[in-house]
Amino acid sequence: MPIITFSPQEKRVEVRLGETVLRAASKGRVVVSQRCGGNGSCTMCKVFISPDSCVSQPKEVERRMLGDDNLASGMRLACQTLVQGTVKVEVPESPLKAYIRAQLRSQKQGE
Ligand code: FES
Repeated sequence: MPIITFSPQEKRVEVRLGETVLRAASKGRVVVSQRCGGNGSCTMCKVFISPDSCVSQPKEVERRMLGDDNLASGMRLACQTLVQGTVKVEVPESPLKAYIRAQLRSQKQGE
């Protein structure tokens, strides 16, 4: 069974071929934001797939929602990307978490 590695959590999850990256994240208790239940309409499940990973080609919904530039950078929708072998995934920090981190940092610097 393929192994999928999530960073920065450094979680390794064994998955079945054809499983989505979103499902694998859920199995490994890795938080990947989503709001649409995995049907490709919310674009909240964006992740970055390492170029040496074995995953499915982008579906039409990904091409439409992400665009060619984002796809070329390795961005994919976790709910639409199927595992086809060893995969390395970078999960971006949520915008809310990044905002809170920036606020805390600026408070600390102001003290
Ligand atoms: S979960 Fe909504 S687009 Fe992937």
